[in-house]
Parts: sequence; C-alpha cells; structure tokens
Amino acid sequence: MHNVRKITDDLYWIGANDRRLALFENVHPIPEGVSYNSYILLDEKTVVFDAVDWSVARQQIENIEYLLQGRDLDYLVVHHMEPDHCSSIEELAIRYPKMKIISSEKGFMFMRQFGYKSINGHELIEAKEGDTFTFGKHTIAFLEAPMVHWPEVLVSLDVTNGVLFSADAFGSFKSLDGRIFNDEVNWDKDWLDEGRRYLTNIVGKYGPHIQYLLKKATPYLPQVKFICPLHGVVWRSDFGYILDKYDKWSRYEPEEKGVLIAYASMYGNTENAVEVLASKLVEKGITNIKMFDVSNTHVSYLISNLFKYSHLVIASPTYNLGIYPVIHNFVMDMKALNLQNRTVAIVENGSWARKSGDLLQEFFETEIKNMTVLNERIGITGAPNNVNLDETDALVEVLVESLNK
Ligand code: FEO
Repeated sequence: MHNVRKITDDLYWIGANDRRLALFENVHPIPEGVSYNSYILLDEKTVVFDAVDWSVARQQIENIEYLLQGRDLDYLVVHHMEPDHCSSIEELAIRYPKMKIISSEKGFMFMRQFGYKSINGHELIEAKEGDTFTFGKHTIAFLEAPMVHWPEVLVSLDVTNGVLFSADAFGSFKSLDGRIFNDEVNWDKDWLDEGRRYLTNIVGKYGPHIQYLLKKATPYLPQVKFICPLHGVVWRSDFGYILDKYDKWSRYEPEEKGVLIAYASMYGNTENAVEVLASKLVEKGITNIKMFDVSNTHVSYLISNLFKYSHLVIASPTYNLGIYPVIHNFVMDMKALNLQNRTVAIVENGSWARKSGDLLQEFFETEIKNMTVLNERIGITGAPNNVNLDETDALVEVLVESLNK
C-alpha cells in the first residue's frame, strides 16, 4: 500500500523506513532503524528526487505509482550515488523508459561502475555547479557538494518554493515512524544522539568539506523553507539549531564541556581506577560525565560521544606490549575520522611491562591534530594502590581546572 506525506502543494515524501537492517554500511549498528528518503515533484513535468535502497524499493515504486495517477515519470534527479540511495534507479529506468536522469558527471560514472545497464537508452543530463532546470513553475538550482559524503554529490535548491534537497547533509539514523518533519519529533531529546552518530561516523572525516558547503550555501539560506535530506526528518523550522550542530561537528568543536571516560579492563582493575576517578570528579562538581566499557561498546557510539565532549579520559591495559586491541581500534577510528581539538588524560595498566600509556601519548601527540595530553597520568601495575590514589587526586585537580577554564 502507498505511504506518502505531503511537504508542499506539489511535493511529497515518498521514502520508507528500514528496521530490519542491523548494520548501516555493514559497519554501524542501527537499533532504531533508518529511513531512506525520496521525494516527488508534480509540476508540468514529474520529477523524482533520488532513488532508495533495494530493501524499500517496492514501497517507493508503489508511492510513485500512486502519486503519478497514470502520468509518466519525466525526470529522476540523483544527488548521491551511494547504493543506499540509488539501488532502485535500475527498476525505475525499466518502468519509465522515457525518464531522463539528471546527475553529476561522477554520478553517471558511478552508475556505470555499479553496472546499471537499464539506464542505457535514457537521456542522461549532467548537472554542474550553478546549473538550473525548470520543470514548469519550479526551477531547481544545483550546487556541487563533493565529499558530503562522496565526491559526486550534488545538492539542489528549488528556488520557487525554497526546498533544499541536501543529500546526506542534515541526515540521521532512526526510522521516521510516520513523523517526517522535525517539529513532529523532539529532535534534541530523541534524535540528537543518533543524528550526531550518523554525521560523525559517516561524514566526520570530511569536516572541511561540510564547512565549504555551509559557506557556499550561506547566501541561499534566507530562501530556504524546507531541508529535505536523504535520511531522517525534513526540517521546516529551527534551522539555526541544526546548522549550529553541523557547524560545530564539522569544525571538530565540542558541543559540551564534559568528560568522556572510555576504558577497557581485562579483569576489572582498570575499570576500578576510572570508577574512582569519576566519583572524585563528581565530588568536585564535574557531573557531565559519560563512561563506556570500550570492549562492550560499538566504536560508532564512542566516536559520537567524543565529538560531543571536550575532554577524554582513555584507560588501557597493556597487551602484547602494546595498546589494548579495542582501545587501539578506537584511537585509529579517531584518526580516520579526523577528530581533533580535545584534552586527553591517560590511565594505563601493565602488570610487568607498562607500555600503553606512552604509546597512547605518542599517538595523540603525533597522529591527531591539536590534542592536549595532560601530564598527570594514572599508571597501574595490576590493581590500583595508594600511589594510584594520589595520581588520581592530581589528575582530578588538573581536569577540574581545565574543565572550568
Ligand atoms: Fe546515505 Fe552516503 O549515503
């Protein structure tokens, strides 16, 4: 059965939710699902904006057929060629043989690379920065948005009614559950964590490219009345709120002063040390603390919280004379995602050869930009002892001072 939502007089959401997929990109857990958004404009010409993942292709096709009411589909605009948004292109190309396809030069290159044979015979129209297309009363202007999230990405603005088709930008994990607009959910309470986890893990590496796009889009923003991303809610209010979040995340600036404690512990001793540290921080008035056992937390949640908080306490046993494997994986992901500008405290453990602290310090000082590693460190040899208690007090003092700056 069709399932559509009206956005403006002649623009509809025709996407769908996927709550069966366990891992987005086969990497990131999505326990609350994800939506694949697609839109249709019913003007003198009919235009679909973006295809969808195979898992929901049937729903998109039913939605299109329902809204076309027997009309032909004239155009398909492909802003982004990652398969979660373009798998149904081939099916649409078969069903609508006269459909013209608009995408970037690289978008068409990817269609060929992915083997989309059914687009052969369709008119393929390359869109570049500044190009405009008129479909009746609506005119759509394109901007190139390379690396937000792939190199072929376009975003477009319907200059007639102020609808911005933003591709992956302003997207989020989470299924929509019938509510497609930002004012139909409590985004700050219920969506912010998944929005941040999506952005920081999927596009986090490309902060400078997001900044470039935000700058380029600034002159058009007063015209924007709707932001229609490929995942998550359609924004029709509170643009300042979400723009501020994107600005902060893409500049690698923390959202909040607070402490992320990320620890691994083989037998509970390293965990004991950071539990004591957390209690002492709270006693000194630092209550904005989030603690994760890295061995039992998917790295995407750690990355998201690292983008949120200003300070990181990282606690690692020594393992094979190196950094404990799950902590190593976490710091490598930090590097891959270009995270920077944080203050770090190290807690290390090693029963006969304590190495993880020095290795972490060297990593943060040489591999990641603008990290301030505090001199005070807790160095455990087995279980925390009275020396470690003194080290904890000293570390708490400098953390409190740094957080209250
Ligand atoms: Fe949701 Fe980069 O695709």
